[in-house]
Amino acid sequence: MTEHQFLPKTSYTFLESGSVAAQSPSNIALVKYWGKYGEQLPKNASVSFTLSQCRTETTLSFERKQSEGFEFEVYLEGKKEDAFKPKIQKFFERIERYVPFLTAYSFTIETKNTFPHSSGIASSASGMSALALCLVAIEQLLSSEEMTTQHGTEKASFLARLGSGSASRSLQGPLVVWGKHSRIEGSSDLVGTPYPYAVHSNFQSYHDTILLVDTGEKQVSSTVGHNLMHEHPFATLRFAQANEHLEQLITVFETGDRAQFITIVEGEALSLHAMMMTSNPYFVLMKPNTLEIINRIWKFRKETGSSVCFTLDAGANVHVLYPSEEKEGVSKFIRKELAPFCKDGAFIDDTVGTGASLL
Ligand code: DP6
Repeated sequence: MTEHQFLPKTSYTFLESGSVAAQSPSNIALVKYWGKYGEQLPKNASVSFTLSQCRTETTLSFERKQSEGFEFEVYLEGKKEDAFKPKIQKFFERIERYVPFLTAYSFTIETKNTFPHSSGIASSASGMSALALCLVAIEQLLSSEEMTTQHGTEKASFLARLGSGSASRSLQGPLVVWGKHSRIEGSSDLVGTPYPYAVHSNFQSYHDTILLVDTGEKQVSSTVGHNLMHEHPFATLRFAQANEHLEQLITVFETGDRAQFITIVEGEALSLHAMMMTSNPYFVLMKPNTLEIINRIWKFRKETGSSVCFTLDAGANVHVLYPSEEKEGVSKFIRKELAPFCKDGAFIDDTVGTGASLL
């Protein structure tokens, strides 16, 4: 796969105006992407569960214009949101070669999230993938050449990646790999691809309850975080470890080995945080309640033999992962023992899903 595949193949027949809409979910990485180079290329391969409840819905309206450059307005839940503009401007600059109609239109981006904006949940994966899918839909309206569904999805993932790396993993589900891995056929640094091998029934209906420990602004933006890996003393080993974890997961997914799954997934989360604690400058992104929750999950697992485990993003919130047959017991445990450590007792119940779609 090369970038050239994503250049437009035919010239466009410009419409005067129109509108498209798409929804796309967030995703939770089991093997983490942390470190990038070049044009949003990952230093290691990652894999994630696609979520279903935490979603962004975006309507993209376009109107023909004659002026040069990009023209767009962004609305979040009906309110003009200029704070999003620089990131989208940069996104448009990166993707213009692949969707050159961008300068021919004035765009209105109306977006809303199904999760509260102040929840501290990253909306870049769902937001960028929803916008990317809208752009592919517009391209299809303007070109005479039919685009296969697979190429459309790949192009949306390709564009989404240029907006936010992890967004490339949100287009499909339930398990998506992003980053070339020698043991995973079809894997690519350019796009997210569905995990291609056998997945045991033990991993086919997972839940992710997101515990909102800290709902404020991110302490470290992911761009800053990724950059810290450039001079990081442990970077090379970390990238090798992630690739090795992904290789081990191939066997785990096939055999259904939940104990090994837990070891890999929790190890990944802690490695990610260890990278931040040992970078220059260094950061501690966990809060005391994050650690309290982790300890309680470990205790609960030991006492009950449950397969519940945790993972973390680059922040203090905790993602609690568990198979659906444990839902009742784990939900009780979360409500009673973990929710008191969340900001205002808040958490979001999510399940693994199938990805983005047009609306
Ligand atoms: C910790 O995709 O948000 O969630 O490419 O700079 O937009 P950018 O970074 P982003 O990084 C996500 C990092 C992570 C791990 C992961 O999702 O794999």
